[in-house]
Amino acid sequence: MAMNVLCIGDVVGTPGIQLVEQLLPGLREEHELHWVIANGENAHQSGNGLGAKEFERLRQAGVDCVTLGDHLWRRRDLRPVLRAGEGIVRPGNLPAEAVGSGVTVLESDSAPPLAVINLMGRVFMSPAECPFATADRLIDEIDGRATATVVEIHAEATSEKQALSWALDGRVSAVVGSHTHVQTADDRILPGGTAALTDMGMTGPFESVLGRRVEPVLQHMRTSMFIPFLVAKHDPRLQGTVIRIDPETGRALSIVRIDVAPV
Ligand SMILES: [Fe+2]
Ligand SMILES: [Fe+2]
Repeated sequence: MAMNVLCIGDVVGTPGIQLVEQLLPGLREEHELHWVIANGENAHQSGNGLGAKEFERLRQAGVDCVTLGDHLWRRRDLRPVLRAGEGIVRPGNLPAEAVGSGVTVLESDSAPPLAVINLMGRVFMSPAECPFATADRLIDEIDGRATATVVEIHAEATSEKQALSWALDGRVSAVVGSHTHVQTADDRILPGGTAALTDMGMTGPFESVLGRRVEPVLQHMRTSMFIPFLVAKHDPRLQGTVIRIDPETGRALSIVRIDVAPV
């Protein structure tokens, strides 16, 4: 029997969390999900970072593992959550002294274990260690605890994300991208059996610029002046991807993009 994993693209603000709460039960049934992963780096009501409260809401909604990205240090109350390391990973290619881990193994009585790795890109991003070398190290750290592994690379450049999927082809079940908030249409399975999607997209309001209200973003871009970017409200949609994995081999069987609006 295949193992079905839903990976959710960057959850933006309260509208994004509400959408996960509202849609996840139906998605779980429709896709017979075993595991759910969601990027939470924008889930705070401000759209910046993830607080302990938003982490708990996502977990309560049914997210098994929250991933992060460049906004991960914005909320101090997330640090104890990262220290505990239950159901959360942060980009693993940050300084070793930073709190949190880049890899975790999800375990339950009702599904085969799933390793989750989180990395950050280096092209047009803040400084980080090499994601390729870090991926090698974190895969070693799994040490046979899981056959299936999903890698989320939080990065700007499509080339860097595609390159990582080729670097890991045959060694992990999937390499999925986050950070741009724009879903790409390149979902595929590479020759070695690794599913790849450059960017999963966004879960939040689409009448926006990447989840923020249009007018302040336009004003900022026209004037270069600082203007707070408030989270938008309208046209909420949940984007991500469902990956079917053979739990015996860890190879991906299929990958489909999803883009769901509330009914
Ligand atoms: Fe984001
Ligand atoms: Fe980001």
